[in-house]
Amino acid sequence: MEKLKVAVIGCGSIAIHRHLPEYQGNPFVEIVAVCDIKEERAQSAASEYNAQAYTDYKQAITDSNADLVSVCLPNYLHAPVSIFAAEQGKHVLCEKPMATSEEEAKQMIDTSNKAGKKLMIAHNQRFVPSHEKARQLIANGEIGKVYSFRTTFGHGGPEGWSIDGKESWFFRKEEAFIGALGDLGVHKADLIRYILGTEFTEVAAMVESSAKENSDVDDQAVTILRSEKGIIGTLTASWAYGAGEDNSTVIYGEKGMLRLEDDPAYSLIATYTDGSKINYELGQIQTNDSGGQTSSGVIDHFVDSVRNDSKPLIDGEEGYKSLQIILAALEANETKKNITL
Ligand SMILES: NC(=O)c1ccc[n+]([C@@H]2O[C@H](COP(=O)([O-])OP(=O)(O)OC[C@H]3O[C@@H](n4cnc5c(N)ncnc54)[C@H](O)[C@@H]3O)[C@@H](O)[C@H]2O)c1
Repeated sequence: MEKLKVAVIGCGSIAIHRHLPEYQGNPFVEIVAVCDIKEERAQSAASEYNAQAYTDYKQAITDSNADLVSVCLPNYLHAPVSIFAAEQGKHVLCEKPMATSEEEAKQMIDTSNKAGKKLMIAHNQRFVPSHEKARQLIANGEIGKVYSFRTTFGHGGPEGWSIDGKESWFFRKEEAFIGALGDLGVHKADLIRYILGTEFTEVAAMVESSAKENSDVDDQAVTILRSEKGIIGTLTASWAYGAGEDNSTVIYGEKGMLRLEDDPAYSLIATYTDGSKINYELGQIQTNDSGGQTSSGVIDHFVDSVRNDSKPLIDGEEGYKSLQIILAALEANETKKNITL
């Protein structure tokens, strides 16, 4: 059977740590092209993965004859590169946040639909075992009616992650458009929609840029969300948790409470109002220090959806709804008013 050919655009940290090794580990894919505006990065990935190096994304996408394109670029390039790739008839896996505006996101969805090709957004939090288990427990009514939640994603900031360290695009509004809220908050927006199986209709937010120097984007955000089912909760994103990562979520329901990624030994702890408690050992979440899960699950899922012609779990519409929440949070902070979705 002929393998699917992939072009990976951007050879920074997410490509190096996730996309490239996970495509390499997938038996149905061959990495044919790698592209980075910094030639030495493209060359280095090309020699490691036996692919062709490019510095121009258009050339990488058209000349390589790729079937799939992974967009691993600064946020402002997500929409233009994904749209170009879909216009060329490619299936697209795009990193998060999907785009910098609702208009861009809609255009990405329309272009992929018109081309009859897949569009998936890399919200890997959905593939974490504790998160998937919590979704099932809630859907099965294990904790009864859900009332409230708190979900947090914070770490010391992208200088400890991006290939350009302190000089990273992550800190420049023109390229990033948004800071911690778009880097980390959007993951939790997507996760909480997924786990609770509900859409959010109202967003309040306070956003600050207080922790980083030489940055013109937010690094602290606390938002309050209300769902169509009347569930209210907080979503927090931060680049100032220098002492350690917090990736936890707690869900409070009528019959019990679920703590996710909040305990070093048990990734899911269910405590019930009748006094019983279940500790689930499901494996740890993947972190930037490359502890925990070895595969994000994102790349294999994307490849499967192309091979089986099935809808990806996080398609463009899903990415769009999660993006809407953080765009609303920015607006709520600016206008000092709750935003209705
Ligand atoms: N899903 C996740 O958990 C997760 C984690 C980290 C980052 N990300 C996302 O991945 C994307 C990339 O982030 P990263 O951490 O790899 O950043 P990075 O700074 O490590 O790498 C970005 C790379 O893009 C290259 N680049 C910039 N402009 C280019 C262009 N015009 N053409 C080709 N290459 C270009 C840079 O030279 C750099 O090598 C971001 O959108 C980020 O939000 C997702």
